[in-house]
Amino acid sequence: MWPPQGPVGVPSPGRVLLLGLLVVVSVPLSQPRVAPEPFKTFSPPEWGLTHLAIHNKTGEVYVGAVNWIFKLSSNLTKLRSHMTGPVVDNEKCYPPPSVQACPHELAQTNNINKLLLVDYAQNRLIACGSTSQGICQFLRLDDLFKLGEPHHRKEHYLSSVSESGTMSGVIISEGSGSKMFIGTPIDGKSEYFPTLSSRKLMANEENADMFSFVYQDEFVSSQLKIPSDTLSKFPAFDIYYIYGFSSEQFVYYLTLQLDTQLTSPDASGEQFFTSKIVRLCVDDPKFYSYVEFPIGCTKDGIEYRLIQDAYLSKPGKQLANSLGVSEQEDVLFTVFSQGQKNRAKPPKESALCLFTLRRIKEKIKERIQSCYRGEGRLSLPWLLNKELACINSPKDEEKALSLAFTAFV
Ligand SMILES: *[C@@H]1O[C@H](CO)[C@@H](O)[C@H](O)[C@H]1NC(C)=O
Ligand SMILES: *[C@@H]1O[C@H](CO)[C@@H](O)[C@H](O)[C@H]1NC(C)=O
Repeated sequence: MWPPQGPVGVPSPGRVLLLGLLVVVSVPLSQPRVAPEPFKTFSPPEWGLTHLAIHNKTGEVYVGAVNWIFKLSSNLTKLRSHMTGPVVDNEKCYPPPSVQACPHELAQTNNINKLLLVDYAQNRLIACGSTSQGICQFLRLDDLFKLGEPHHRKEHYLSSVSESGTMSGVIISEGSGSKMFIGTPIDGKSEYFPTLSSRKLMANEENADMFSFVYQDEFVSSQLKIPSDTLSKFPAFDIYYIYGFSSEQFVYYLTLQLDTQLTSPDASGEQFFTSKIVRLCVDDPKFYSYVEFPIGCTKDGIEYRLIQDAYLSKPGKQLANSLGVSEQEDVLFTVFSQGQKNRAKPPKESALCLFTLRRIKEKIKERIQSCYRGEGRLSLPWLLNKELACINSPKDEEKALSLAFTAFV
């Protein structure tokens, strides 16, 4: 069982990953907050906001919402808006009705923005919605003019899950080509959608290769699918991608997923969830470098295991001083809700936890090295049979489950 409940998993003070638990706050995370002066505010006329992307040079703010994308100046004055819905659709239509006639009843369907990324290399915004099986629009950064909306091939459909805040993307631009890593829940449709994939990002929006897998041959491709075995045992199994970022040669995701070790396959039983940090090498088109480790934090003996959101940034001077790190250090700011239950309606009790990326990298490295020494297994419980045995594994269950990444204090 994880987390290790005994001496196995309790890190000595010198090895504590979690640098400092700043505050335990009780904030209704999903509700809009009224910002006091002098903060600027932006309230769209009707619909909820889902995503935010800030241009790193101009400071202009792009906002994804239900049926709308907005562009705001850095002082939050609305400059442009672009309508993305409602769309005549039915979630059951695969492919979408715009491509092929569909036997299901069609209705005006709200298009919930699920992904909003600035593609700096091509000066455009990528905005993916919930309708038409999750297709994306390319919008000019300048004025939100629609450059294209590829929707004819199955690679263009990213996921039909309409819940916002569950899909996450990372763009990697190097040399001539760009690619986009996409993590998404799939709502049981593993035949349609991979949960994690890397896609070609073409300069021309009409290019037939847009969103093709970076690599694909007869046997392997740049994608990870939730095995049908896992879904038949745990029909509710899914992976929610809360935040993604890249650093050096890696792409990272913070995910929330059904805990297959704590949840009984009996559908009427209680569900438990667990948060993971997932890492892949940027230049690994076959996804062999995929690793995942549990992540969470504790305060006063209470566990916070449901990741709500995260952000990678540098600490300010005061924070850097109080943490005893340099101002140049990458710090992952995370918010977790208490416990492991109620993913859909997480407890209001939450904690802001800070990790340095340096320690996360060290922990992953230590674990991989100990695996090479034959200690335990790299546990991928949701891949069931595909758990990776470490070389010369001593088959020591306890050791295997201490699984290195003891993020708890
Ligand atoms: C903005 O982000 C892009 C892509 O990550 C990067 O190439 C560029 O250097 C950044 N620009 C600034 C001013 O930080
Ligand atoms: C906010 O930004 C807009 C556009 O850049 C500008 O026209 C306006 O004067 C600014 N308003 C304030 C109060 O700074």
